[in-house]
Amino acid sequence: MTKNVLVLHCSPREDGNTHSLAEMFSAGAEASSHRVTRLNIGKAIVGPCAACNYCREHDHICIQQDDMPQILGAIVAADVVAFAAPLYFYGLPAQMKLVMDRLYALGPQYPRHNKEIVLLLAGGSPKPEDYEGAIKNFQLAFIDYLKWTDRGVLIAPGVYAAGEIKENPILADAFKIGFNL
Ligand SMILES: Cc1cc2nc3c(=O)[nH]c(=O)nc-3n(C[C@H](O)[C@H](O)[C@H](O)COP(=O)(O)O)c2cc1C
Repeated sequence: MTKNVLVLHCSPREDGNTHSLAEMFSAGAEASSHRVTRLNIGKAIVGPCAACNYCREHDHICIQQDDMPQILGAIVAADVVAFAAPLYFYGLPAQMKLVMDRLYALGPQYPRHNKEIVLLLAGGSPKPEDYEGAIKNFQLAFIDYLKWTDRGVLIAPGVYAAGEIKENPILADAFKIGFNL
């Protein structure tokens, strides 16, 4: 079955390591005939959730006028959402967390929560345990709370400088996750 796959690139470094992960994942998904849409949210203007609950009274619409309606529209249209993100201070980068918080507008009762989710995470540290906080946050939010289906978490450790991932065999794993959706 052909799926709508949304790849959200969450680093401000446009040609960095998460960009390569996103590219290889997308290539794998396209090789399996899925429809891939890519959005770079690394420099998007997304404000923090204001907890005003306007969305609760207005059919899931957020009152804030920023880039989030476009991102949210793409998420709503997707069957699979893949976040490609750098590890920042042992956690998910603010660019991704802001989008996550604004999913509050969907609410846990939102009818289209039957989505699949992937996390591709690159970081400078070679130690797998340094990624645990980010992965835990991701799993609790998307899988436990929103009930999206886990389609894989891939970490690319030990890549610090932009482009350092280029010859890394982990890119083949990103391709495979996309291909096997
Ligand atoms: C603000 C900031 C915080 C970072 N924090 C961490 C960290 O906690 N652990 C780590 O291993 N790498 C950390 N890094 C390094 C990035 O995760 C690493 O360079 C990654 O490859 C960046 O991905 P990109 O090239 O797609 O931007 C940090 C980088 C920045 C800019």
